[in-house]
Amino acid sequence: MALELTILVGTMTGTAQLVAQELELTLDDGETRVKTQPMDGLDAGVFAGGGLFLICSSTYGQGDVPDNAKNLYESLQTARPDLSNVQYGVIALGDRTYAETFCNGGKRFDAILSELGARRIGDMMLHDASAGTMPEELAVPWGADWISQCRKEARLAA
Ligand SMILES: Cc1cc2nc3c(=O)[nH]c(=O)nc-3n(C[C@H](O)[C@H](O)[C@H](O)COP(=O)(O)O)c2cc1C
Repeated sequence: MALELTILVGTMTGTAQLVAQELELTLDDGETRVKTQPMDGLDAGVFAGGGLFLICSSTYGQGDVPDNAKNLYESLQTARPDLSNVQYGVIALGDRTYAETFCNGGKRFDAILSELGARRIGDMMLHDASAGTMPEELAVPWGADWISQCRKEARLAA
């Protein structure tokens, strides 16, 4: 059975969207079906049916989630749904110049999702914009490894 993956994108200037597009191109192969959705206008209801999600979010302000992710993040904090039927991964985009708040946007999502009972698969991918590497390139091997961990878990759960 195909694995259904929803990538939720939190972005200000489009980098996270680029990463998500690249992942959709490489991961959507028949064995995995990928849907990419910007976080704009979403709330906690997006997780209602459970399933597999990849949070792809940058960081702004004082280590905040980007503007288009605020509604979703705040809705999780106030509605506090039981997410024990959700599995997720995180790609957090940031910049080490902001040492105190490096990649906090993605880390905030990780914290709230696990608090609500969702289970993270694998380690987060953290990207440092000051390193001169392209996150959409690094995300491809990270994503291939992550999806194989997801498949392994899905087989164990079957
Ligand atoms: C005004 C501003 C504030 C930022 N604040 C942070 C921050 O607090 N922590 C961090 O790790 N990165 C911070 N960043 C870096 C961005 O998260 C990073 O450049 C990211 O790749 C942008 O992705 P996007 O184009 O998807 O929004 C900031 C960038 C800008 C322009």
